[in-house]
Amino acid sequence: MHDVHELERLIRAGTPLVVIDTVDIARCEEVFAQLARKSDRPAWRYSLASGLARVGMPTSVLGPGRAPHEVLAHILSIKVAGVWLLLDVARQIEEPMVKSVLREIGLRHRETPHTLILVGPGARVPDGLRTMAARLELALPTHAELVELIAAEANAWSRESGRPVRRDEDAVAAIQRQLAGLTHGDARRLIRVAIRDDGVLDERDLPAVIAAKHRLLDGDGALTLELDVARLDDVAGLDRLKRWLAERAASFTSARPPPGLDPPKGVLLLGVQGAGKSLAARAVAGAWRVPLLRLDFAALYDKYVGETERKLRDALKTAAVMAPCVLWIDEIEKGLATGGEDSGPGKRVLGSLLTWMAERRERVFLVATANDIQALPPELMRKGRFDEIFFVDLPGPAARAAIVRIHAGKRGLDPATLDAAAIATATDGFSGAEIEQALIAALYAAHARGEALATRHVIAAAESTRPLSVVMAERIDALRAWAAGRTVPAD
Ligand SMILES: Nc1ncnc2c1ncn2[C@@H]1O[C@H](COP(=O)(O)OP(=O)(O)OP(=O)(O)O)[C@@H](O)[C@H]1O
Ligand SMILES: [Mg+2]
Repeated sequence: MHDVHELERLIRAGTPLVVIDTVDIARCEEVFAQLARKSDRPAWRYSLASGLARVGMPTSVLGPGRAPHEVLAHILSIKVAGVWLLLDVARQIEEPMVKSVLREIGLRHRETPHTLILVGPGARVPDGLRTMAARLELALPTHAELVELIAAEANAWSRESGRPVRRDEDAVAAIQRQLAGLTHGDARRLIRVAIRDDGVLDERDLPAVIAAKHRLLDGDGALTLELDVARLDDVAGLDRLKRWLAERAASFTSARPPPGLDPPKGVLLLGVQGAGKSLAARAVAGAWRVPLLRLDFAALYDKYVGETERKLRDALKTAAVMAPCVLWIDEIEKGLATGGEDSGPGKRVLGSLLTWMAERRERVFLVATANDIQALPPELMRKGRFDEIFFVDLPGPAARAAIVRIHAGKRGLDPATLDAAAIATATDGFSGAEIEQALIAALYAAHARGEALATRHVIAAAESTRPLSVVMAERIDALRAWAAGRTVPAD
C-alpha cells in the first residue's frame, strides 16, 4: 500500500517522470494496477512485447514491437493527462530520441500533466532530466503484507490441488520472519516453492527458505550460512547459559517483544578448548530457530586498504537483512589480533565491529567465542559490549555423564548399556571433545575385537589419554583465575 501512496503523492506533486530501479517488475505491475483502479486519470501500460494499451482495455493502440521513442512520441501527442507504466524503456533512456521526447513531455507538463513511470533493473534518471524526475524505491513488504502473501499463495495452491495447505503455525511464523527484508517478488517465490513441493508449510521448509534467502543476499563470502545447527539438548551442562538463553528466546524472536524487554544483543563465550563453546553457539541458533551466520575473519582480510572494512560492513548489512539471526564469530581473538599495532587492519576491524555492536538496531544476536585471553582486545570486554561474558569450564561429573549419553545416542548406541557415571569418574579433567574422542576410540577397539561397546572399553580409552587439562594445567589455571570476577560461569 505504501508504494501506491508514494506514487500518488508524486503524481499529485506534478512529477513528470518517476524512475523505479528494480528487477521486481511483477511488483511494479501490481502497484500500478492498484494505482490505476484509484486514479481518475487514464492509466496506460507499455512493453516492447505487448505494445501500448489502456489498462482495462482489450486492444492496444500501438502494437507489439514498437520502439520506445515511437511510444513516447505518441504520448506527447495525447492531450488528456494520463499515468503511464513503461517497461523496456529504461534501458534506452540515454538514446538521443528517447531523451529528447522525455524532456519535451516534461516541458509540456503544465499543459498536459502526464506522469511516466519507468521501471527496470538498473533504471536511472538520465543526465539533464533530473529536475523533472524522481526516483522511487519500492518498499519491502510489511509484516501484514507477508501474512497476506502467505495466505494468498496457500489459497492459490488449495484451489489448484483441491486440498488445503497444512500449516504448522510456529513454523509459518519462523518462515515469515525469514521473508522479512526480501522484495515482494522474492518472498513470493520462496513461499511458493515451500508450499508447492508438498502442500505443507512446516519446520522442514525453514532451512530451504533460509538458504534461498542467504543466496539472494550473498556478497563476498565472508559470511557463511551454517546449516549444521544444534539443539540445546545436544549440549551437556552449561545450565546457566541455557537458562539465560531460554529466558530471552521470546524477546528475541517475537515480532512484538514484551514491553520493556529489549532483545538481547550478544554473548561472549570464553573458555577451555573443546568444552563446547562452538557447539553452544550452534545451539543458540537451533534453539531460537533463526539462521546461523558465521563471520569468517580470514575471508574478510584483503590486501587493499579499505576493502577489509567494506567487506565487514557488507557482511553486517547482510546479517541485518537476515535478522532475526545469530551472527557467530568463532575464535574472535584470532581475527582481531592487533599485534600491538595502532592502525593495522585488525584494529580498524575491531573499531568497526565495536561501533556496530553499540549502534545496531536489528535483531542480530552476536555469539563470539574465544579461548586465548592474552590475544583478546580489552576494548571488547568492556561493560555493555556483550550482554554477558560466560566462562565455559571443563564439564563437571554430571555434565560428563550427560556427554557420554549424548554421544553414545548420536552413534546409534543405547546409552543405557553404558555406565555413564563410572565413565564420568574415569574422565575427570576431560573436555567434552576428549570424552567424545575416548568414546570413538573405544568403539574402534571394541569393533576390532568383535565385541559390543562396553563401559570398560571407554574407561580403557580414557586411561590411555592425557587430557589437555593435564598437559596445559598452568594455562587453564591462569584462564580460570582471569575469568573469576570478570565472567559468569556458564554452568
Ligand atoms: N558440553 C558438551 N556437550 C556435548 N558435546 C560436547 C560438549 N563439549 C564438547 N562436546 C563435543 O566436542 C566437540 C568439540 O567441542 P567444541 O568445538 O564446541 O569446543 P570449543 O569449546 O569450541 O573448543 P575450541 O576452543 O577448541 O574451539 C563438539 O562438537 C561436541 O561433539
Ligand atoms: Mg570452538
